[in-house]
Amino acid sequence: MACDFQARCEAALRASPPLRGTLKAATIRPGGAKRHRSDQRVQTRITALLCVALAAVTGTAAAQHATAFDVEDGARSFASYCAQCHGPDGNLIPGIDLGHGQFRRPLTDDEIAGIIMNGIPNTAMPATPRLSEDGVRRLVAYLRSNAKSQANVAAGGDPERGRALFEGEGKCLDCHRVNGTGSRVGPDLSDIGRLRRAVEIRESLLDPGAEVQPNNRSYRVVTADGKKVSGRLLNQDTFTVQMIDTDQHLRSFVKASLREHGFEKTPMPSLKDTLNAQQIADLVSYLVSLQGAPP
Ligand code: HEC
Ligand code: HEC
Repeated sequence: MACDFQARCEAALRASPPLRGTLKAATIRPGGAKRHRSDQRVQTRITALLCVALAAVTGTAAAQHATAFDVEDGARSFASYCAQCHGPDGNLIPGIDLGHGQFRRPLTDDEIAGIIMNGIPNTAMPATPRLSEDGVRRLVAYLRSNAKSQANVAAGGDPERGRALFEGEGKCLDCHRVNGTGSRVGPDLSDIGRLRRAVEIRESLLDPGAEVQPNNRSYRVVTADGKKVSGRLLNQDTFTVQMIDTDQHLRSFVKASLREHGFEKTPMPSLKDTLNAQQIADLVSYLVSLQGAPP
C-alpha cells in the first residue's frame, strides 16, 4: 500500500534541513532507550512523523494512515514469513482468514503478537524469531489495517440492494451463476466472497481485464468454415481445446482443424461508467456475502 504523500514528505524533508534537525532532536527520547536506533531508522521515523503532520495540515484522507510505513513494512514481513503457509491472501488455513481479520477466536493485538513471536505449541504454527519486536508490531498493524480496508471497501454497501441489482438491472446472471441460478458463460460466483478479498472483487467490477483468474480466461476460435466461437476456456492441451461457449455449451475443438485460436479480452463489462459508487458498494457487499454452501 503506497503512501501517496510519501514523495511529498521526503521532498519536504530534503528541502528543510533545519526542521529536520529540530525534529531529530525531538525524536530521540531522553533516557537513551532509543539511542541504539541507527540514524537511518530515526530518519524513517522522522519522515513518518512529518507525514503525519503534513497529512493533518493538508487534511488528506491519509490522516488515518498515520502508520502507512509500518503497514508497508508489515506487508513485506507477511509476504516473507507468513504467506507460504497462510497463502498470499491469508486464507489458506481453514477457519483463519488473516486478510479479513478472521481468527478462530477473537484475538487482541497483544495475543496476535504473542502468537507471531512464540508460535502455537504443538501445532504447525511456528515462532518467527527473525522478526524484531517492532517488526511484529508492524505486522500486527498490517493485519489490522488489511481487515479494516476490507471492511471499508464494502462499507456503506447494502447486500440486499446489491443482490437486487445483481439479479435485475445489473444483468449479472446473463453471464454468472449463484447457487444454481444463472448462466455458465462467466465464472460461478457462489463462493466468491470466500475466494477473493473485497478489494479484489471491487477491482474485478471496475477494471475487469486487469487480473483474470487463469481458469476464467476467454478464448476464441475460428473454425475451418469461418465460424467464430468465443467462450470461457476450460482446458487445453497441445492438440485440443475445450471451452464453454456463450450459449453455455461445452465445445471441444481439434486445434489443427481451426483457422485461428487464442485468448481474447474478457467479455466482463466494466461497471465504472454505468454504475455509481453506491451501487458498486452494494454489489461488493453482496458478493462478499457469497460464501458458498456451508460445509
Ligand atoms: C509453517 C506454516 C506457518 C507459518 C510460516 C505461519 N503460520 Fe500462522 N498458523 C499456521 C497454522 C497451521 C495455524 C493453525 C494452528 C492451530 O492448529 O491452531 C496457524 C495459526 C495462526 C494464527 C492463529 C489464528 C487463530 O484463529 O487462532 C495466527 C494469528 C497466525 N497463524 C499468524 C501468522 C503470522 C502473522 C505468520 C507470519 C509471521 C504466520 N502465522 C506464519 C501455520 C503457519
Ligand atoms: C457478458 C458476460 C458478463 C456479464 C454481463 C458480467 N460478467 Fe462478470 N465476468 C465475466 C467473465 C467472462 C469473467 C471472468 C473473466 C474476468 O475475470 O474478467 C467475469 C468475472 C467477474 C468477477 C471476478 C471473478 C473472479 O473469480 O475473480 C466478478 C466479481 C464479476 N465478474 C462480477 C460481475 C457482476 C457483479 C456483474 C453484473 C453487474 C457481472 N459480473 C456481469 C462475464 C460477465
